[in-house]
Amino acid sequence: MKKYNFDEIINRRGTNSVKWDEEKEDGIIPLWVADMDFAAAPAIRKAVEERAKHGVFGYALVGDSYYEAITSWFKRRHNWEIDKEWIIYTTGVIPAISAAIHALTMPGEKVLIQTPVYNCFYSCIRNQGTQVLESPLKREGDTYVVDWDNFETKCADEKTTLFLLCNPHNPAGRVWTKDELARMNDICMRHDVKVISDEIHCELIMPSYTFTPFATVSNECQQNSVICNSPTKNFNIAGLQIANIICANKEWYRRINRAINIFEVCDVNPFGPIALEAAYNESEDWVNELMDYVADNYALLKETFQKELPAYEVIKLEGTYLAWVDINASGFSADALANKLVHEGKVQVNAGTIYGDRDGEGYIRINLACPRATLEEGLRRIVKVLK
Ligand SMILES: Cc1ncc(COP(=O)(O)O)c(C=O)c1O
Repeated sequence: MKKYNFDEIINRRGTNSVKWDEEKEDGIIPLWVADMDFAAAPAIRKAVEERAKHGVFGYALVGDSYYEAITSWFKRRHNWEIDKEWIIYTTGVIPAISAAIHALTMPGEKVLIQTPVYNCFYSCIRNQGTQVLESPLKREGDTYVVDWDNFETKCADEKTTLFLLCNPHNPAGRVWTKDELARMNDICMRHDVKVISDEIHCELIMPSYTFTPFATVSNECQQNSVICNSPTKNFNIAGLQIANIICANKEWYRRINRAINIFEVCDVNPFGPIALEAAYNESEDWVNELMDYVADNYALLKETFQKELPAYEVIKLEGTYLAWVDINASGFSADALANKLVHEGKVQVNAGTIYGDRDGEGYIRINLACPRATLEEGLRRIVKVLK
């Protein structure tokens, strides 16, 4: 018996939504930026409404119950024992990553990323005066794997001091296995490379896959890493701006905590923490049901492409709600095709090139976190343009 109605269509136009209100043309179906068109879980809405009723919205602290919600969630769901002393709260995963890069590198050093990868990784690295070093993922059939020789060569570069991992990987759709993560860390440790693991998509796991927090792979991984996490992507509360850095390495914790203060991202709004608590304490069934729904949306996308556009390959989705589609058969560049889809098809997707000029060329990213009817209409428009 389903408890939640993900089919419900909620009009988001006119709410200052980045996804729905940024494109000025009328009638566009937005299947781009990574937020969902679903209402948040009832417990989250109730907690936010109750807090709103109070009417006073001064500076906020987080209490013990905040830390308990995080530690019990990760213990229960991912078998990860987090010490409260390892947690630093902040306003977002991107501010967290920027502060961690600032704290753990010197300007001019190289930060390794596995491309194609989430676009803000590039800006986070460059904004701190560090250099982007790409280790392209290798396409193998309908999935991506690590090119281990390339990864090791890049780690061995004496200027490489940090590896920024995306776990699960946006947009390649991979949920890294424990063995893969252990191997990444072995190579990093051999070359004295620290790891930041962005785990913002960690509950968005397709049925039959298992997410492994990087820090749970081994004690070495835990000591050699900084984990950036948040319920915002998983529970669709990104506008409430709350995230956590989890760092067991005491010296790195101290440095990152300092950077969070220097960057002035040490204060959160009063709604973020209570939404986090309601998510982690009371909304597990919601996120489980959500992923069944997303899995069905992904199946619909795959079937549609197989039937209507068989020359286009849909990459396997192990995690996230973001489908990565090979559009080389169209003969258009990713940018040209994304433009054509907006202007001719009235459907907005992300061009792959924002995730890497070279490694994202030939792909588009399609956001599946919307009611089925919205996706059906979006797919109809995509098929019309691509045919
Ligand atoms: C991998 C990844 N990290 C971070 C973010 C954004 O995090 P935040 O909004 O908390 O800064 C996103 C958003 O799509 C993402 O995909």
